[in-house]
Amino acid sequence: MKNTVATFAQAKGKNEKLALLTAYDYSIAKLVDEAGINGIIVGDSLGMVSLGCKDTLSVTMEDIIHHTRAVARGASNALVIADMPFMSFQTSVRDALVNAGRLLKETGAQAIKLEGGREVCPQIKAVVEASIPVMAHVGLMPQSVRSYGGFKVQGKDETGARKVLDAAKAVEQAGAFAVVLECIPAGLAELVTRSVSIPTIGIGAGNACDGQVLVYADMLGMLSDFSPKFVKHYAEVGEQMRAAFKQYAQEVRDGVFPAAEHTFTVADDFLKKLY
Ligand code: KIV
Repeated sequence: MKNTVATFAQAKGKNEKLALLTAYDYSIAKLVDEAGINGIIVGDSLGMVSLGCKDTLSVTMEDIIHHTRAVARGASNALVIADMPFMSFQTSVRDALVNAGRLLKETGAQAIKLEGGREVCPQIKAVVEASIPVMAHVGLMPQSVRSYGGFKVQGKDETGARKVLDAAKAVEQAGAFAVVLECIPAGLAELVTRSVSIPTIGIGAGNACDGQVLVYADMLGMLSDFSPKFVKHYAEVGEQMRAAFKQYAQEVRDGVFPAAEHTFTVADDFLKKLY
């Protein structure tokens, strides 16, 4: 069954957990979708996972559009959520509207996500009023990594915790249909989850959230660069891929691949005429 923003709201009402993953291309989106995942976020984490960037700041609208199109083609049932890149919405309400509109019109996504609390509520309100569903994102906001001085857990002291709680309540008021809580203490995520009527989607925020999201490449053990504490490896696909690539290279060098079963043939007498 197709997941929609209504499905997300109902899940919170029924106390049913939502499982989300990121994806950035067709084949991964198809596998994720076939696994019954509720939502696929085409996150700007694609900058780090697929494009080899140090952070998410250099990801562009064109990058997100290109990758979301591919994901939308592979996702029949999951809700596809396209991430608004750094500086595509912070600059003005008008920029937010224009860019959120592009993401929906040009990609096949059904919702957008943007980072920020009270300071981006005018943008959230305007985008929602234009009938574009918005998933908000508070706590650790990777687009603010420069101002934090690194990727740091947020909401660890009273001021920080109040800020996260206030941000979640503000984005709910502005009309967001869900909110991502990234890298905050579990107790704070539980309080936020009880304080808002929209689903909270945790990443590094404990298990009291209404749902969870992980970066697919992290949970598959595909990236050896860095593995955050909150990531569980459900497989070691990276190891398997490296081993397969190595075996392939060896077999090519040894002349073992391709074998007869991978090879097309024609009658010898036909070929002789070509010599
Ligand atoms: O960019 C991203 O992938 C995200 C999700 C992990 C929430 O923001």
